Amino acid sequence: MVDEDEGVSGSTEISIGELIERRLSRRGALFGLAGTAAAAAFGGGAAQAQKSGPSSFAFTEVPHVNDPIHHVPDAYEVQILIRWGDPVLPGAAAYDPAKQSGATQALQFGYNNDFLGLHPLPTGSTTGDRFLMVVNHEYTNSNLMLAGIGEGREARLRADQPQAEIEMAAHGGSVLEIAREGRRWKVVDGSRYARRIDANTPMRIAGPAAGDAKMKTSADPAGTRVLGMFNNCAGGETPWGTWLTCEENFYFYFSGDGTKHPDQVLAKRYGLGRTVAYAWGKYFDRFNFDKEPNEPNRFGWIVEIDPYDPQWTPVKRTALGRFAHEGCHYAVAKDGRVVCYMGDDSRMEYVYKFVTAKAWNPSDRAANRDLLDEGTLYVARFDEGGKVVWLPLIHDQAPLTAENGFASQADVVINARRAGDLLKATPMDRPEDIEPNRVNGRVYVALSNNSTRKPEEVNPANPRAKNEHGHIVEIAPKDGDHAATEGTWEIFIAAGQPGTHEGTKYHPATSADGWLTCPDNVTFDSKGRLWIATDSGEIAGIADGLYACDVAGEGRALTRQFFAAPKGSEVCGPTFTPDDRTLFLAIQHPGEGQGSTFETPSTRWPDFKDGAPPRPAVIAITKKDGGPIGS
Ligand code: FEO
Ligand code: CA
Ligand code: CA
Repeated sequence: MVDEDEGVSGSTEISIGELIERRLSRRGALFGLAGTAAAAAFGGGAAQAQKSGPSSFAFTEVPHVNDPIHHVPDAYEVQILIRWGDPVLPGAAAYDPAKQSGATQALQFGYNNDFLGLHPLPTGSTTGDRFLMVVNHEYTNSNLMLAGIGEGREARLRADQPQAEIEMAAHGGSVLEIAREGRRWKVVDGSRYARRIDANTPMRIAGPAAGDAKMKTSADPAGTRVLGMFNNCAGGETPWGTWLTCEENFYFYFSGDGTKHPDQVLAKRYGLGRTVAYAWGKYFDRFNFDKEPNEPNRFGWIVEIDPYDPQWTPVKRTALGRFAHEGCHYAVAKDGRVVCYMGDDSRMEYVYKFVTAKAWNPSDRAANRDLLDEGTLYVARFDEGGKVVWLPLIHDQAPLTAENGFASQADVVINARRAGDLLKATPMDRPEDIEPNRVNGRVYVALSNNSTRKPEEVNPANPRAKNEHGHIVEIAPKDGDHAATEGTWEIFIAAGQPGTHEGTKYHPATSADGWLTCPDNVTFDSKGRLWIATDSGEIAGIADGLYACDVAGEGRALTRQFFAAPKGSEVCGPTFTPDDRTLFLAIQHPGEGQGSTFETPSTRWPDFKDGAPPRPAVIAITKKDGGPIGS
C-alpha cells in the first residue's frame, strides 16, 4: 500500500558502493583489463558486456517516467491477462462500471492484485504451459471503483452498505487456470479450479491460538472459525504446493474507540482505532470492536490455501505469528524442515522466520497438511559487525513468561510484536518481501522506507534517519542452513537517486535510469538474479517500476530499469515461468493519488475507454523473439 509519509533523506556511514568499487578495481588489476574481458571472465559474456557494462542483462533500459501508460524495452511485449471485474466464476457478468454490486463482484476478479503465484498443472508438471495462478486482492481504491463517491482515501468512509459489500467482495484472492499457446497466455474459461475468496469466505483457525479465549466472538464461541481475509498483500507457497497469503494492514478495517478496548496492551501495540479506513463497522458489527473486541485478533495471520482443491477450507496458521504480514517465502533447511521468512510491514517493526518442527515429506503431500501448525517462530536481531541472530519466541522461556503477560503460546503469537519488543529485536524500515535465493542460498530483505526514523534511532541494519527511499539487506545463513539461529548480513543496496539523495549505495556503473526508490516485492529468475518491484516512486517524482540486477560477479548491485508502471500504480507480484520466458506482474492501484476519482482519474489504464475507470490488472511480459526475459 502506498504510504504517504514525508521527510528528507539522511546520511549513512555504511559504504557498500565503495566496497564494490574496491572489489571491481581489484578484479580489474587482477585481469589487467576493464570491461569486456573482465566481465566475460566472470560469466557476463562479451556481447552483453558491450551493451550493459558489467551487468549480465542485455535489455535496453526503460527511462524514468511518470505518465499514464506502461513501458517495457523495445524488444518486449505486454499482454493484459486479466483485469479487475473480469469474470472468474461460472455465471459471472462482464464488467460494467454502472452495474457493480456485491453479488456481481463475488464472481469477478477482485481489486488491487498483489501477490502472484504459479502452481503447475497437472501437479508436478514441468512443461510450464499450464498453471493455477493464485492472486491476492489487497485492498480497494473506492474513489476509483465507484462513481460519485468523491476523492481520496476517505472515500471509503463514505461508502453505503451496498458499496461496502462491493468492497468486501473485491478483497481476498482468486485462483485462475491459465494456459500458454505460443507466447500468448489466456485464462481458461470454466476451469474447475477457479475460485474467489473474499472478506466473507469461511476459514478455519489452526495452531496455538485456535480456541484461545482471545479468539472467541459471539459468532464463534469456540474461537476456531472465522469469516474471510483482507488486506492480503504478498504471499508465497509451500514445497507441497499450497498458497500462503498474508494479511497485512488488517487494523484499517475495524472501527471503535481504541482507548476503551478491554485489552489495552494488545490494542495499543496493534494500533486499533488509530486509522480507520473503511466503513464496514457501520454496517457489520464484527468490524466494530466496541461490539466485538476479539474480532481483530482473528486477522493478521498467514492463510494457507490449497489451489488444487476448490472446496478446501482456507486455514489461518497462527503458529507463524500475528502482525502486518507482507510475504511468506520458504527455504528448506538441511534436515528437511521448512523455513518461512516473513516481514512485519510497519515502521520500526521486525523480521521473522518460522521453522517447522518436522521435516516435510516430498513423497506424501497429505502428510504435510498440518506441518505449519508446529514449530518455532523467531525474530531477528541485526548486530554490529554484520551478525544476525534469530531469537526464539517461545512461551515460558524468559522473558515471554506469565509475569510479563504471556500466559501461553497463544498469547505469544497473538501479540508477536510485543514478544519481539521484549526480546529486543531490531526495529526495521518497513520489512516487505523477504525472499531466499535458491541459487546462492542468501536471503534478501526489502525495506521499503521509514521517513519517521530519528537520527538517534538508527541501527547498523537501518543506518539512515528519515529513510524515504529504503534499502535491501542480504543475509547469509550460517553454514548455508536456513534453520541456523545465526548468520551474517550486509546492505546490498541503499535506494534513492545517487547525487541527489543522501546515503545511496549502488554499483558505481548504475545509470541515470537504473536507480530506484522504495523496494517492495522481489523475485529471482532461474539464474538467481534479483528483480525488484517498487511501491511509492512518486516520492522521488518517478513511476514505480521493476529493476533487475546481478547478485554476484562484476554486475552485483547494478540495478537496471526493465519496466515502468502507469501513473499512480505500484508494481507487485513479479513471477517468472520456470523457463524465464514470461514474466507476470500485478499492476496495483493505477490512478491512485491526490485528486484522482472515478470520473477524472489520472489514468484510464489499461482500457483507456472514455468514462471507464482505471483497472488493476495482471500482465504477461514476453520477449518478441521468444527468448528469456532480461537476456
Ligand atoms: Fe502491502 Fe507492504 O505492502
Ligand atoms: Ca508496499
Ligand atoms: Ca507490498
